[in-house]
Amino acid sequence: MNEKQIAAEYSINFIEDGMLIGLGTGSTVRFMLASLAERVKQGLKITAVSSSAETTEMARSLKINLIDINSVDRIDLTIDGADEVDPELNGIKGGGGALLYEKVLASISSKNIWIVDSSKLVKKLGKFPLPVEVIPYGSKQLFDKFEKENFNPVFRERNGKRFITDSKNYIIDLNLNEIDNAAGLNASLNLFPGVVETGLFLGIADYVIAGKNEGCDVYERQKKDQPK
Ligand code: 5RP
Repeated sequence: MNEKQIAAEYSINFIEDGMLIGLGTGSTVRFMLASLAERVKQGLKITAVSSSAETTEMARSLKINLIDINSVDRIDLTIDGADEVDPELNGIKGGGGALLYEKVLASISSKNIWIVDSSKLVKKLGKFPLPVEVIPYGSKQLFDKFEKENFNPVFRERNGKRFITDSKNYIIDLNLNEIDNAAGLNASLNLFPGVVETGLFLGIADYVIAGKNEGCDVYERQKKDQPK
């Protein structure tokens, strides 16, 4: 079995009857959806909120009960993929282009689990190009600013055409190679007018399930002490 599938199938153990589940996007999530649908067929009762048109289509075809994000207060658990994960469980997401809705979903989820294959575990973030979702208006000038910052930007394309996200924006991928200060970079990127969201997901994942040969490793994020 491939590592993505192993991690995806293991993640179903975190789902309990009656939960409201956030569904991420990507090939690993597709494995998770297939397993979840099996459990639903066997009687598991869940409701779900989707993070993308792609996931919505698959979930509907598998008869997973979806509801609109605006009709819920909180989500119990979101299961999503990731493109890179560092030892502190910070990550880069957005390889599939769904980073904006994925981040919104994660932000209202009581628990976030990422499912990955072992190649996604890295010492330092940045080898994977960092996706930044931008509005089309003025995106050329924004791109130029990123070039001046030496971010090595590339407009994402699919099938020879500019990639358009579910919220009708563009994605500029930044080829940074190494990110030294992810929080600082995230904050400064968010200050560029026209940036909607970045693919830096910091302090979001509570657990990462990484497929490994024939098993998987589960990592839990160490919570920093809260001031009393
Ligand atoms: C989509 C994502 C995906 O979760 C991420 O790209 C991982 O994808 P895959 O499971 O196909 O490797 O962030 O926006």
